Amino acid sequence: MLEGNDIKKICTKAIKMREKSYCPYSKYSVGAALLTEDGEVIGGCNIENAAFTPGNCAERTALFSAISQGKKKFKAIAIAGGPQDKNPLNYCAPCGVCRQVIREFCSKDFPIILTKTEDDYKMYTLEKLLPESFGPEELEGDI
Ligand code: THU
Repeated sequence: MLEGNDIKKICTKAIKMREKSYCPYSKYSVGAALLTEDGEVIGGCNIENAAFTPGNCAERTALFSAISQGKKKFKAIAIAGGPQDKNPLNYCAPCGVCRQVIREFCSKDFPIILTKTEDDYKMYTLEKLLPESFGPEELEGDI
């Protein structure tokens, strides 16, 4: 179960993670925070590159960091992003690639929280943001 405190905790962390963003090209900083099943919070930020395409989004940084720490079960993700020096934030929605990466590890009712402040957020499910999706079960043929 996702509690109000959990939501606040990951929204705050996602906003804080924007400080770690490496975005000299877009100057659009994004932070993400994953809540693991055992209550841990794992953050990520976007990391850009002079060659542009190797850049990574905050959501994937958080997920890959979690997976590489052996965490594979998650309760929610919060995302905060906007132009680096602009306040207040708008809601920043995950890109299509990140939605697909979330799909690999999370169920269709997984909560994706777009946050401006710890008290101002919108919550979606993965199914809502990525309907009719392709996931690991398809390869097994068990759908
Ligand atoms: N970005 C993210 O990190 N997450 C999103 O949900 C949207 C976009 C990054 C990619 C790039 O570094 C910058 O924001 C501008 O697109």
